[in-house]
Order: sequence, then C-alpha cells, then structure tokens
Amino acid sequence: MNILVTGGAGYIGSHTCVELLNAGEQVIVLDNFSNAKPEALNRVINITGQQMITIEGDIRDAALLETIFSQHNIDAVLHFAGLKAVGESTMDPLNYYDNNVNGSLCLLRAMQKHGVKTLIFSSSATVYGDPDSVPIFESSPLRATNPYGQTKLVIELMCQHWVESNSEVSVTLLRYFNPVGAHDSGTLGEDPQGVPSNLMPFIAQVAVGKRKSLSIFGDDYDTPDGTGVRDYIHVVDLAQGHVAALKQRNEQAGCHVFNLGTGQGVSVLEMVTEFSKVTGQDIPYQIAARRPGDIAQCYASSQRARLELDWSSKRELQQMIADTWHWQRLNPDGYV
Ligand code: NAD
Ligand code: UFG
Repeated sequence: MNILVTGGAGYIGSHTCVELLNAGEQVIVLDNFSNAKPEALNRVINITGQQMITIEGDIRDAALLETIFSQHNIDAVLHFAGLKAVGESTMDPLNYYDNNVNGSLCLLRAMQKHGVKTLIFSSSATVYGDPDSVPIFESSPLRATNPYGQTKLVIELMCQHWVESNSEVSVTLLRYFNPVGAHDSGTLGEDPQGVPSNLMPFIAQVAVGKRKSLSIFGDDYDTPDGTGVRDYIHVVDLAQGHVAALKQRNEQAGCHVFNLGTGQGVSVLEMVTEFSKVTGQDIPYQIAARRPGDIAQCYASSQRARLELDWSSKRELQQMIADTWHWQRLNPDGYV
C-alpha cells in the first residue's frame, strides 16, 4: 500500500516509518520540519535499507495536498503532524487550533476529494483529562483540560462526523499514553528542542550530564509514593500498534477508538530508581511544587487493542530505559 505519513520525521512518526517499511509498505512522508530534522529520515532509511518519498511542506497547504494526492495513489493516511506541547498551547492557543485542527481539516478535505478512505490519527490520553478512575477505558468520559487536549478532542469529533456522513470511511483514533524509549539501533529517538518538558528525556539528559538534577513535580499526590503515576509505552510498541491498526482496520468502515498503553502505572520515583538501576547512573533530584495542570495518575485499559487489533505492548520498563539511554549516549545533542 501507499501510505501518506504526515509528521513522519517526528519522534513517533519516524519509528512508525521503520515499522511500515519493514512491513513492506510504500511510505510518503509529509513534514514541515517545524519540530524535526531531515536527518531522522536518513536514519530510517539506514535502519531499514528501504527508500521512501519525503516531501517538505505543511498539511495546511491545500495546493500541496492536491499535488500529493493527485501524483501518488494514496491508500491510507497516518496522521501524526501536529504541535504537542501542553504549556505552549496555553500561551498560543490560536496557533494550536490552526496547526492541529485546521491542518487536520485540510487533510480530511483532500482525502475526501481523492476518495482516500482510511485514516489513522494520533490522539492522546490527554482527552481523558483528570480521570474519575483508573484504568481508563475508551468509554471513559472525555474532558480535555488545556488547548492542546482540546484540539485532539475537536479533531476526534470532526473524524466522527466525517465517518457518520460517509459510510465508506474508516477512521482509527489511537489514544497514546506516554511514549518513551528509542529504536534499539540507538540511531532513532526523541530529540526535544530546548529544555525537555517530559520526564524521560529530562532524566536522560541528567544522566548524560547535560542537566544537573531532576525536579520531581509533587510528592503529595494520592498515589502509593506520592509522585505522579503514568503509563509509559515503548515507542516501537506504539509504532507497531499503527501497523496492527492498519492491518485490522484498513477500509473497515466506521470510527474505531483504541487506547495504546501498557496498562501498567509507574510513578516518577519508580522511574528514577529504575533508570539508575538499569544504567548505573546517579540521577540527582529534588522535590518541587506540583506542575499546574498535572494529574495524579493515568494508565490505560489496553484490553480493546489486545482483543480487536491483536496487539499488545511487548517491551518492559527496563527495555524502555535501556533504549532511551543507548540513544542518549550515542546522540547527546540529538540529530546534529
Ligand atoms: P513530534 O513533534 O516529534 O512530531 C510531529 C511532527 O509533525 C514533527 O516532525 C513536525 O515537524 C511535524 N509537523 C507539525 N506541524 C506540521 C504541519 N502543520 N505540517 C506538516 N508537518 C507538521 O511529536 P510526536 O511525539 O512524534 O507526536 C506525534 C503525534 O502524536 C502528535 O500529533 C502528538 O500530538 C501525538 N501524541 C504525542 C504524545 C507524546 O507524548 N509524544 C502523546 C500523545 C499523542
Ligand atoms: N515530571 C516531573 N519532572 C519533570 C517532568 C515530568 O516530575 O521534569 C512528572 C510529571 O509531573 C508527571 C510525570 O512526570 O507526573 C510525567 O510527565 P510528562 O510530562 O512526561 O507526561 P504527562 O503525562 O504530563 O504528559 C504527556 C504528554 C502530553 C500527553 C500526555 C498523555 O506530554 O502531551 O502525556 O498522553 F497528553
């Protein structure tokens, strides 16, 4: 199949390109490199030994989309392109609505015009907001608490309405929990710009000596050790979840929703302790105030994906840490 991968140079998109190429698919990447480097795509080619088509451009560029859909016989779209920083979204919400919502609208319009019926969309556990209970099921209440999360909810709704209006369309909404880790070659990984806001890349930068110590945001949550609990999932497992979704849901009409997580909650303190154990590195930390907008705990029920996609995460926390560390040591400054 010819698969258009928007945002394919990014962290999750690039790992998914590897899995798609390994599965024998033809890949066409569309990325504006606003949060990625072309080098990531060279690494994908090196890992797989396969070629793919790269197009530099924006999903909001309707003329460009027209050209792409006219020139390539696209069978399905995997839609990763978007902005993802929660804090930034509260400071510049209009840019988030423009990039994420307007961008997705342009993409869906082009798909509709060219009769492309299969879409897999990168949604997020953030659509559940502060959950009433854990584990979180796909049927749990949806309530985003920041502009970024709200854009994901709006796009989900837009997809739902599109499906309702067209009985041939197949949309799969994948709600990711916390993606971490890197490709086991150590050549592909997460390359945050500036100070990482997420836990795993921050710890990795402390371990490699780029930052002095980790601030743990709050130790007074209602969790076993007082620190925040999350469902960390290896990015390669996540990438393979997309291949499974493509296989099971391609052209199967309807709107399909899946959590992609491990179903295991891990606290910040557990992560720090385990990181030290796996890597042999000391991770200095201090307890700091809670981060505004953070929730106590969030982890998935991963049952539906297991039953309906025949997919479940395979890689344990130790592997997530070892692969993060491998990537960080080999690429201390990312894709330079
Ligand atoms: P990323 O920033 O590494 O990748 C996104 C890619 O999209 C980048 O390569 C960027 O250059 C590109 N892009 C952004 N806007 C674009 C536009 N208008 N046109 C073309 N390209 C554009 O992020 P990621 O971590 O790989 O996330 C991928 C998707 O998964 C995003 O939609 C994100 O919201 C979602 N998601 C991520 C996480 C996470 O923690 N990483 C969790 C849940 C959901
Ligand atoms: N944390 C720290 N110190 C840090 C960074 C994080 O203590 O320097 C803590 C947080 O307070 C939280 C946990 O580590 O308890 C995880 O934080 P992350 O920032 O890594 O992840 P979040 O769960 O807050 O958010 C992530 C993405 C969101 C996405 C959400 C659900 O950043 O975009 O997962 O998928 F919506």
